Amino acid sequence: MPKERDVDTVQYHIGLSKVDLEDATLALLPGDPGRVETLAEALGDYRLIGFHREYKSALVSLGAARVLVMSTGMGGPSVAIGVEELARLGVRNLIRVGTTGAIQPFVALGDLIVNEAAVRLDGTSTHYAPLEFPAVADHALTSALVEAAHQLAIPCHLGIAASSDTFWPGQERYDSYTGYVPRRWRGSMAEWQALGVLNYEMETAALFTVARAMKLRAASICGVVAQRTEAEHVASRGIYALAEQRFHLVLRTMIRTQTEQF
Ligand code: URA
Repeated sequence: MPKERDVDTVQYHIGLSKVDLEDATLALLPGDPGRVETLAEALGDYRLIGFHREYKSALVSLGAARVLVMSTGMGGPSVAIGVEELARLGVRNLIRVGTTGAIQPFVALGDLIVNEAAVRLDGTSTHYAPLEFPAVADHALTSALVEAAHQLAIPCHLGIAASSDTFWPGQERYDSYTGYVPRRWRGSMAEWQALGVLNYEMETAALFTVARAMKLRAASICGVVAQRTEAEHVASRGIYALAEQRFHLVLRTMIRTQTEQF
């Protein structure tokens, strides 16, 4: 049975208590603490409510409703810790808002990708469920994101991510310090491409698996900042800005049209 917490108990890692959240049940989860305020500002009036370790938090007011924006830092472990502690505070809907590298040629820099599932190349998700268990998004949240992108005519692709614990070997990048990619990963990008996987990133498999194991709802939307069929490096700041502007618009539209869900 999930544990009940008293309202003043401050969670050890995220540094927030139930009182701080003012009954918010939806959390938007960018990786980068530097993106918390711009995302919160794009959604409505907000105030910063915490910054502990990698978890920077802002509470957005949308009429009577509250939406939490909280950074998770990079990778599965800090996502899982964040989700555990948010669940104790009453959060039931989690949307990762990140950046990603596309591995299919038809996806352009600056496009958005909504992931409906993820290949579990991470370690964190295996601590919550055996590898046979799928990392799958919540259908309603995912459809709402895609619908909002379509309404806004923003280029958005729906498909499977490959979530890796590493930016270099697990995403088969050779431009690392040593240039060495262990045998396990050599040729892996071609395999994911052949299987129709859209993109590499580092958090979605952990989020989806942990959320499912806890009976929470999760979705993931990412802006494309690397096009791996052309280059290993990430794109210019201008592409980041375009992708960021687009996922801000999608989230704003989605939240305003789906208030009854949260
Ligand atoms: N994030 C990743 O994990 N990989 C990329 O290529 C770009 C962003």
